[in-house]
Amino acid sequence: MRAFKVSKRAKSIEYAIRDIIGFAKNLEKQGRKILYLNIGDPVKYDFDTPKHIKQALFDAVNSGANWYAASEGERDLKESICEKEKKVNGVDITPENVIVTAGVSEGIHLLMAAMIEKGDEVLIPGPTYPPYMSYVQFFEGTPVAYRTIETENWQPDIDDIRAKISKSTRAIVIINPNNPSGALYDEKTVKQILDIAGEHNLLVLSDEIYDRIVYEKKFVSTSHIAKDLPVVGLNGFSKAYLMTGWRLGYLYFHDTAGRLNELKECIEKETRIRLSACTPVQKAGAVALRGPQDHIKSMVDELRKRRDFSWKRLNEISGISCTKPEGAFYVFPKIEQVGSRWKNDMEFVLDVLNNTGVLFVPGSGFGEKYGSGHVRAVFCAPLGIMQKAFDMLEGFMKK
Ligand SMILES: Cc1ncc(COP(=O)(O)O)c(C=O)c1O
Repeated sequence: MRAFKVSKRAKSIEYAIRDIIGFAKNLEKQGRKILYLNIGDPVKYDFDTPKHIKQALFDAVNSGANWYAASEGERDLKESICEKEKKVNGVDITPENVIVTAGVSEGIHLLMAAMIEKGDEVLIPGPTYPPYMSYVQFFEGTPVAYRTIETENWQPDIDDIRAKISKSTRAIVIINPNNPSGALYDEKTVKQILDIAGEHNLLVLSDEIYDRIVYEKKFVSTSHIAKDLPVVGLNGFSKAYLMTGWRLGYLYFHDTAGRLNELKECIEKETRIRLSACTPVQKAGAVALRGPQDHIKSMVDELRKRRDFSWKRLNEISGISCTKPEGAFYVFPKIEQVGSRWKNDMEFVLDVLNNTGVLFVPGSGFGEKYGSGHVRAVFCAPLGIMQKAFDMLEGFMKK
């Protein structure tokens, strides 16, 4: 019997961060121990969702908040999001300008579905968080990678952004702090990108999911300095509130002149056909934003130690070099012998996995042009595990 036909668009989906896991699972089945340094989920390691947030979820379920929520999000949560954005990031928005999503991931999906027509181009940082490329492609647009400069701690190349604008460009994506590079963009850089967007009438999409995970310098929200330029902000609860598995995020429209009204209405229509984000989780989300925030400082303090360790340790290994991440929880080291000893970064990652059991993500999965020749490592794991992983990596490199 012939297999049922599937769409080309679905067939072409790739997601390096998760696609790579199959190889590790196969080795695990053969009894090998795997050290997973591939997934950006602190809750998979030794960080846990704060107790008061767990209690709020329990209370919400127990008190009967188990119905479908409003499609665009529960009012109280949207109000708490506005309070947080004002207090933490200095962004003025009203609940009418917020849409609650099942994670930033759903926000990216809804946004691209509402924005992209065949042939539209979106400028995306290179390297990037992969779903930005995937969703633009899924809706028949073209992701265009703009260079971020490794020797300048992966800061955006403003001239490259300018050079890559075409008649088809619709938007510029900023991911700050960045996954996978760990870069934190300063106010001047963000302002330069906003100026280009203003000159060319482009929308800025600003993913700020790591806004509270920064180590030395202060984070500046794009919307805080955008003045009258429209910005769609994307943020969520997965990282700072350790709620990865609960799937909660939001989009907001910083839009002083009402230029995004139609986009917002279209996204609201899209939210209706998927009914709503999870109701009790939304109740817990409001408690997370308004309740004690102490866990963020302790998490960042612990992550800083792990960042310092992995950055130093990786740079000690011959053939590997990396910049110091200033935000998020990723390092993006360069593997010098990719192209000679290994054909590409995928071959390197598989060779390391087979020989040591340590799992990284190939850099090309974050964009072929600017990610190749690198790997992404997550530094959420306890120091002992990372020490073991990097010792094994060093032994392997010396072979
Ligand atoms: C830059 C960036 N945006 C969005 C996401 C996904 O977030 P969520 O869990 O809210 O879907 C991630 C997850 O790693 C990320 O790194």
